[in-house]
Amino acid sequence: MNTQSVALVTGGAGALGAAIGARLAEDGADVVLVDIDGDRVARQADRLARETGRPVVGLRADVADPDSVRAVVERVADGFGRLDHVVNNAALNRRADLASLTEAGWDPVMKVNLWAPALLCQAAVPLWKEAGGGRVVNIASRTWLSGGPLAYTASKAGVVGLTRSLALELAPLDVTVNAVAPSMVVTPFTRAGRSEAEFDAFLDRHRAMTPLGRLASPDDVANAVSFLASDRAAFITGEVLHVCGGAQLAPSP
Ligand SMILES: NC(=O)c1ccc[n+]([C@@H]2O[C@H](COP(=O)([O-])OP(=O)(O)OC[C@H]3O[C@@H](n4cnc5c(N)ncnc54)[C@H](O)[C@@H]3O)[C@@H](O)[C@H]2O)c1
Repeated sequence: MNTQSVALVTGGAGALGAAIGARLAEDGADVVLVDIDGDRVARQADRLARETGRPVVGLRADVADPDSVRAVVERVADGFGRLDHVVNNAALNRRADLASLTEAGWDPVMKVNLWAPALLCQAAVPLWKEAGGGRVVNIASRTWLSGGPLAYTASKAGVVGLTRSLALELAPLDVTVNAVAPSMVVTPFTRAGRSEAEFDAFLDRHRAMTPLGRLASPDDVANAVSFLASDRAAFITGEVLHVCGGAQLAPSP
């Protein structure tokens, strides 16, 4: 990655978004963390700037809202003059099964997890045209293969379809588009809505189904994003990189 590159990471206030932002900053990028939680993303950005010694800014935006996304891309263009790497990491999960599924639960998941990555890529096209290329990394999930919570899993399978389609559409601009599909990482996202005992049992099941015998860490995910965002991955597009310790080969626990 050259020293002038600029990376935008959505969901940058969250556990994985912050780890990805830190890794891209260590790789030499200027980093823009974007999150709907403005206070938290500002704090993460300050922390990463201190820890990495790189320019890291935090911006509040709703990635599912077209005006908000356009405004954030304009701020990046004004502040940095370019946008090289887009990491679509923000997501919502609702664990409703078929019996309890509602439109009100389904729609926000699709908006944030699937519509937002398309929206951000659309807004970034003029900057990629100007720069002569770019990199997109979409964060999917092992569940796209194994099945899982309905709306979440459908959205993540959609992210894979979006990745493959955008890889074709953006190839003439020399923009590569790939997905990273992690297995379980302990974050507030996976802990939410589970009692301590339920969560411990959930983690045990995940360790047991993982051939490499442990859970994924935020750094495992960030390292995969770093590779796909780098020049070393210049000829890779339309791929899904599973960061699962082999658990993508196993049935769901
Ligand atoms: N944690 C895991 O086990 C795991 C496994 C596989 C895939 N993933 C994926 O990794 C990504 C990050 O997960 P995480 O565990 O760090 O979750 P997290 O909940 O810690 O982070 C998600 C972030 O997205 C932000 N966000 C939500 N809606 C938004 C919106 N409309 N606009 C802007 N920001 C918004 C949230 O505020 C939050 O900071 C997600 O795409 C998730 O699906 C996570």
